[in-house]
Amino acid sequence: MPHSLTVTKVEGKPGQVYYPLKLNEVPRPKPGPKEVLVRLHAASLNHRDFFIRQHLYPGISFDHPLLSDGCGTVVEVGSEVPSGSLLIGKRVILTPIRNWDSAKDGPEEPSKFGAIGGSVASPIGTASDYALLTPADFEPAPAHLSAHEAAALPLVGLTAWRALSTKILNGDLQSAAGRNILITGIGGGVALSALQFASALGANVYVTSGDPSKLERAKSLGAKGGVSYREAAWDKQLAALLSPSRPYLDAVIDGAGGDVVARSVRLLRPGGIIAVYGMTVGPKMDWVMTAVLKNVELKGTTMGSRAEFRDMVNFVREHQIRPVVSRVARGGLADIAGVDSLFEDMRHGRQFGKLVIEISAPEDESGAKL
Ligand SMILES: NC(=O)c1ccc[n+]([C@@H]2O[C@H](COP(=O)([O-])OP(=O)(O)OC[C@H]3O[C@@H](n4cnc5c(N)ncnc54)[C@H](OP(=O)(O)O)[C@@H]3O)[C@@H](O)[C@H]2O)c1
Repeated sequence: MPHSLTVTKVEGKPGQVYYPLKLNEVPRPKPGPKEVLVRLHAASLNHRDFFIRQHLYPGISFDHPLLSDGCGTVVEVGSEVPSGSLLIGKRVILTPIRNWDSAKDGPEEPSKFGAIGGSVASPIGTASDYALLTPADFEPAPAHLSAHEAAALPLVGLTAWRALSTKILNGDLQSAAGRNILITGIGGGVALSALQFASALGANVYVTSGDPSKLERAKSLGAKGGVSYREAAWDKQLAALLSPSRPYLDAVIDGAGGDVVARSVRLLRPGGIIAVYGMTVGPKMDWVMTAVLKNVELKGTTMGSRAEFRDMVNFVREHQIRPVVSRVARGGLADIAGVDSLFEDMRHGRQFGKLVIEISAPEDESGAKL
């Protein structure tokens, strides 16, 4: 019998509660005429999943499977799916969002927008052996990626892509070359995707981390340099790393919040951009007068549209980018302790990149390998 993982509701206040994982036996779904059945091979965690377990995320569902990111193989296709027979056996990555087609400013109907996974916005979640989808709900997986790497890409890749290409570069990818971009908290999934994308475009990427070994690993992935955000004077240390010919930052991509505006504004050029996609440290941050006087632009940025997702996957394919996988739990969905241990990695910030659950081996149904 196929399985799915959900969270069980227990009493407790948001931020204090920690919903336990629940393994469910579910029937193998049967695709309707316009639907496609995908056998999941791997899924990955995002910080939102940790927030869901703490009831710090909106629109939580206790019935729909957890997790937004997944890679699988098409195993059954409904009779009315265009060119359906050609899809059988194809490896795909799932679209992590619903109800945002292509509008640049945000979802066309914000109240209907949401990520898949433990959400009332969609019955789909990738912590499941099977997912019933429509063809709009996936993209072909880039052939150079393993199933683990493909499952590590969707949500973080989409978020990083929108922050960089839409919010900082305003669609002009060529303009990235030679710019100085700071990416904070480089151990995180979004941060690492942003590093990979910006480096591929020729930007000079600088990073912060709480762990010196992560700074070194970031350099091996193309970062020009990095500093520890645990150091009181990290902004001064970063200033010393910038080249004399371009002694300022053009932009910052931040997912932590905290003091990032106050610190980075000293290094930003006039009119520089701070794109903030998250506030892991706390739900508020300071906006300082120095930033106003420097005409700094603070831009909120979220996941992204369906169109941005397609562009991001094509960029990854074109530039042969491989998402960074921190650790894989190989016991499948039924190994709750193994899955829980990935959440513990996230709780303690031990990860460098994505935390992946291996769900099934592709050779089970397609002959491909992990
Ligand atoms: N708005 C959206 O649509 C959207 C989309 C994706 C993510 N997010 C949010 O963005 C945040 C990151 O997501 P993720 O999935 O990439 O998380 P993640 O993989 O769990 O990474 C979080 C990272 O935060 C960094 N961090 C912790 N304290 C920090 C500090 N004081 N200063 C700088 N960095 C710090 C750590 O970096 P080091 O390990 O290097 O120290 C850690 O690796 C989360 O809050 C998430 O909810 C929002």
